[in-house]
Parts: sequence; structure tokens; C-alpha cells
Amino acid sequence: MDYQKKLISIILFTLFLSCIRARTGQFIYFSDAHLSLCYLPNASNDDECEINSGDAGLFGDYYCNNPFWLIENSAKKMKELLPNPDFIIHGGDTNEQFYHDHFTIIESIKFVNEIFDQYFPGVPIIYTPGNHDFFPTHNSPYYNTPFFTKLSYSLGAMSDAARATIQKGAYYSVNVNNMKIISLNTIMWYKLNDLTEDLDGDIADQLSWVESELESANDHNQGVLFIGHISPGCSSFSLNPSFTKDFQDQFLDHVQDWQEQYGSIILGYLYGHKHCDNFRCGTKDSLHILNPSLNPRKRINSAFRIYNYSDSEKILYDYSQYYNNLRDSNDNMYVTWEKSYNTKESPMNFQNLTCQNYRAWNNKLNDDQTLFDWFVSNYYPKYEPTISCSDSCKKKFLCAQIHLHRDDVEDCVY
Ligand SMILES: *[C@@H]1O[C@H](CO)[C@@H](O)[C@H](O)[C@H]1NC(C)=O
Ligand SMILES: *[C@@H]1O[C@H](CO)[C@@H](O)[C@H](O)[C@H]1NC(C)=O
Ligand SMILES: *[C@@H]1O[C@H](CO)[C@@H](O)[C@H](O)[C@H]1NC(C)=O
Repeated sequence: MDYQKKLISIILFTLFLSCIRARTGQFIYFSDAHLSLCYLPNASNDDECEINSGDAGLFGDYYCNNPFWLIENSAKKMKELLPNPDFIIHGGDTNEQFYHDHFTIIESIKFVNEIFDQYFPGVPIIYTPGNHDFFPTHNSPYYNTPFFTKLSYSLGAMSDAARATIQKGAYYSVNVNNMKIISLNTIMWYKLNDLTEDLDGDIADQLSWVESELESANDHNQGVLFIGHISPGCSSFSLNPSFTKDFQDQFLDHVQDWQEQYGSIILGYLYGHKHCDNFRCGTKDSLHILNPSLNPRKRINSAFRIYNYSDSEKILYDYSQYYNNLRDSNDNMYVTWEKSYNTKESPMNFQNLTCQNYRAWNNKLNDDQTLFDWFVSNYYPKYEPTISCSDSCKKKFLCAQIHLHRDDVEDCVY
């Protein structure tokens, strides 16, 4: 009897231990698919590419938007690497950059989601709108329109609450495991949006909605992951950040408040848009990660990421970045995806993705030119030749990574 009791308590204790151990989950991140529905290899695709860019490559082109088969090939590779992700983030800018109308935008979003749905049936695909996913470009409305209604029925199954907020302002949240993923419509805060540029206050009630979502997540002890398309802070498409304002600062003040109040449940913010590999740390150490793009236009290589996270520890552990060397793929008529790096491994050696580690890394980048050159070689995922960054560029680049307010970046530089 005694022996049996002992055995049972040992079994129970082991079960208890396995319950409190941090659960590691994985998700896939891709962004900026920029699907070109009329892509033709070998054609001088003036409508789909930059004018006079020459003959378009078989698997895509450094001057063009994406053929669907490159996007499909990336999904196939993701499936090989991670057959059962918890969820997939689709970071926006699904539509091509040269041509827009409401119909093409909706069809592109559905097309790309269907590609991923075929490889990952039943896995939630969580989308956030990009500036090219509106017509006219950048012009997200801030009230219900037929386009928002159509969008709300084009993103697969979702809760009534999510459908309602998409119809209101193209933002929504999804609960997966013990996580809440909050998809922001950052285009309402974009300075090139003519419809909202003169608005201040809480556009389409998005900020107050986020606050209620955070409160609810906090009550239920959920982790919160934010996704959006356009990141705050100083940035540009080149390595040299500009100080122009392309984002409304009111969002930043809220980020700071959220971090102060709910920092312990927020894993971070993930963005696309810039087609580059970068990060931003804000006041109170809010973490903003800029992810590379699936589209190689503008002389970059396509890339996607696989993230590890814990919903019990409420932290992002690491990511692995995979890229396609498009020049080689077109030359060999065969697509390969290779790992560029993992944040846990050398040279980054991050124990986790937190501003504590990113700030220390920023200091190392400043002190060690070899590390800085390595980091820059991944900015446009291993595109060659690497674009160089002079001393003044380096200073701006590093300052922009550790401040979100433009004034703070300028103070850091000058
Ligand atoms: C495109 O050009 C390449 C090289 O000239 C050729 O091998 C290939 O068959 C062409 N493809 C098409 C679809 O015309
Ligand atoms: C991250 O995921 C990979 C599998 O994709 C796994 O091998 C690795 O141990 C995970 N990392 C952590 C910290 O759990
Ligand atoms: C994250 O990494 C830092 C530095 O390596 C470490 O001090 C901290 O305990 C880690 N946090 C978690 C939750 O693992």
C-alpha cells in the first residue's frame, strides 16, 4: 500500500513538473509577398516590374514583384522546416506595387492565404494590412466601407468580434493557445495616408480597443504579440535612416504606457514594410522587430522567419531566418532556401529576444566592425554586393535602433 502511494505521488509530482515547465511554441512569419498576378518569365514585364528592367527571371526578379510560384515555393520550404506551426503571421503588402484596385487587392490576399492554407490546413493565418493593400495606395479609410466588409469575409474563419473590428477599422485579434495576437492597422497612422493625415485623437477607436484587449489578456494571464505593417521610429529603405516623419507619434506615447502597465505580458511587436532585417527598442524597452520581405524587388533576397516563443514565460526566444539567393536560383533553374542565421547561435548568442539583449548587441555592433559588417550583410538578406555603411551612416543606423522618437534619435546622433 505504502509503496503504491509513493509511486502515485511520484507520478503526480512528475506530471506537475512537466506542467510548470515553459511551453515552447513556434510560428512562421512572412511579409510583403507583393504578388504579381501577370508575371511572365523572360518577358520585359513593364507592367509588373520597373520600366526597362530587362527580361524577368524564372523564379522572380530583383526589379519585379513576385510570381506566385516563388511564394508557393517558400510555403513548401516552411512546411518542410516546420510542419505544424501554432500559427502563421502574414505581415501585409500582399498586393503588387505597380497596380491597385479593390478587386485585385482582395483577390491577392485570398490567393496568398490559400497557398499557405493548402500547405498548413487548419493553422491560423493572421494578417495585418499593408499600405499597398489599399486603394488608392496608403489610403486606409477610418470608417466602415464595402472594402472593409469584403476584407472581413476574405481572411478565413474568425470570431464575430474580430469580424466586427475589421469592418470598423481593419484591426482585429486572435487567441491561439495562451496567446492573444493583436493585428494593428498601422496604415491609419501612416503619414502618406491622405484620409487620416489631419486626424488626431483615437482614429477608428483603435487605441482604446487595444487597451481593452490588453486588459482582457492581463485578466486571463495571456501573452500578447502585436503585429503591424509599418514600424514606428526613424527609418528608410536604405541603410541610412532618415529623420522624416512617416508615422504619427501618438501611437508611440501609447506604446510607452502599454509597456509600463502590461510589459510583463507583451512579447513584442513584429512589422514588415521596410523589406529589411532590423530592430527598434523603445522607452521602457518595448521591442519592435522589423522583418525582411518575401519580395526581392529593390535588390534584396527574399526571406522569412521561424520564431520560437513561450506563452507561459511570455517571451520570444529566438528566430531562424531563411533566404533565397535569387540569382543562383534563376541561374540553376532550381530554388533553394538557406538559413542565414539563428539569434541563439554565434555571432548573436541571444538567450532570448528582449531589449536587454538587443541593447547589449547594439553596443557590440558599435565596438566591433566585423560584427557590424555581418549584421549589415543580413539587412537585405545576403544580397551581393553588400551595400556599405560609412561612419556617419553607422552612427545613425545604431541610434535609430535604440530610440523610437525622432528627437531622441537626433539627440543620439548629434
Ligand atoms: C527563358 O529563357 C531561358 C534562357 O534563355 C530559356 O532556357 C527558357 O526556356 C526560357 N523560358 C521561357 C518560359 O520562355
Ligand atoms: C526552437 O525550435 C527548434 C525547433 O524548430 C528547437 O530545436 C529549439 O530547441 C527551440 N528552442 C527553444 C528555446 O525551445
Ligand atoms: C532573457 O535573457 C537575459 C539575458 O541573457 C536573461 O538575463 C533573462 O533571464 C532572460 N529572460 C528569460 C525570461 O529567459
